[in-house]
Amino acid sequence: MNKKPTQARDLFASKFGVIAAAAGSAVGLGNIWKFPYITGVYGGGAFLFVYLGFIALIGLPVMLSEFSIGRRARSNAFGAFKKLAPGSPWKFVGMLGVAAAFMILAFYGVVAGWSIDYVIKALSNSFASKSPGELETMFVNFTELPLTPVLYQLFFMILTMAIVIVGVKDGIEKYAKFLMPLLVLIIIVLGLRAVTLEGASEGLKFLFYPDFSKLTAEGVLSALGHAFFSLSLGMGTLITYGSYVSDKNNLTKTAVQVTIADTIIAILAGIAIFPAVFAFGIEPDKGAGLVFITLPNVFQQMPGGYFFSILFFLLLTVAALTSSISILEVVVAYFKEELKIKRRTATIISTVLISIVGLFCSLSMGILGEYKFFNLNFFDLLDWISANMLLPLGGLFISLFVGWYLGKDKIQEELSKGSVVIKPVLTVFIFLVRFIAPVAIAIVFLNGIEVLNFG
Ligand code: TRP
Repeated sequence: MNKKPTQARDLFASKFGVIAAAAGSAVGLGNIWKFPYITGVYGGGAFLFVYLGFIALIGLPVMLSEFSIGRRARSNAFGAFKKLAPGSPWKFVGMLGVAAAFMILAFYGVVAGWSIDYVIKALSNSFASKSPGELETMFVNFTELPLTPVLYQLFFMILTMAIVIVGVKDGIEKYAKFLMPLLVLIIIVLGLRAVTLEGASEGLKFLFYPDFSKLTAEGVLSALGHAFFSLSLGMGTLITYGSYVSDKNNLTKTAVQVTIADTIIAILAGIAIFPAVFAFGIEPDKGAGLVFITLPNVFQQMPGGYFFSILFFLLLTVAALTSSISILEVVVAYFKEELKIKRRTATIISTVLISIVGLFCSLSMGILGEYKFFNLNFFDLLDWISANMLLPLGGLFISLFVGWYLGKDKIQEELSKGSVVIKPVLTVFIFLVRFIAPVAIAIVFLNGIEVLNFG
């Protein structure tokens, strides 16, 4: 066992376990549900192009920053700043993260609940011989219900809670390790079916051909927000996970691997979805229902579609679970270490509070739908504020913290654990977190917000 005798904190047991848990956090509804749907809303290829730029120039360095902060401090997101920058206001970055975790998990659990319902629908063969229009009605009617989606959401939150109670090594790591590869496999199969549909090339063109005239300032801000969301950055998830990583791990390598895996899976999901969107005449800017409406059409058109539909939604639920536990863990680690309460108690309290907020998210799809804030229902509001405001802000502070507060020597020390630091890599990293990431985030953020004021 890797456990340090002086610490009562859990550690991930193996290198593969670290990657599986971090990739399990990154890969989730963000890749398979949200990425295709916002790519559709913001016009396709150009959005993807900007998104990929943000992943490489901002996402990767911020991820490495979070891992470094976490492992160096061996503490929760709030405690980490307190430890590394005693007596300074940096700890509020950690607070911001805990708040973001609340908001994200609230709507995340709702979508995961939809996914569970779709497992049941798949089992009872509910997609068979339905037209694209009927499949859309089915989705809308279901999400507008006052009770059923709430029950599924609750069920999902209880699952999340159960795993987090068990703890890092025996809970999170164990499940992530074998379920993630299975999900990748099934997305590849779906992608293969989708690209061989008649009319598929239109969808690939939509996804990969950048038409920059379609790009808006809000689209650019959403690409940035989604880069953070998809990589689980900006709110301390990877600070918290980093705090469980042993000193034998090479953080740079882990960050690169997780980033690549997350990006590939998002693109694969896009390849599975957009060809089908065009082949079945669905509008690409359908919104939150895109995956739930599009893929059932694909299942109908493939041998073994019944079987694949069950497996797909089952694995989507699992992908959501390996992410939701990482979000909950931020809150739990904070409660546990800062308020000095037991893991079990901390987990139950946070789950209950988050589920209550989530309840309103779910109801805002239907009976509470008329309550709008900035023209968004409560669900979209939490999504928008957390992804497009809190995460980029968190990322901004995290990069400033590492680039300017921690400084080169400490970073070098942290990155040399478990590896040999290559000088140019270190130089590029410092340059990115000092200048590129903060400036880019600030510009995109201010532009995006300004558009909001006028539009
Ligand atoms: N990255 C996950 C996804 O794409 C969601 C997630 C997990 C997350 N932890 C996070 C998003 C922290 C933002 C911040 O589904």
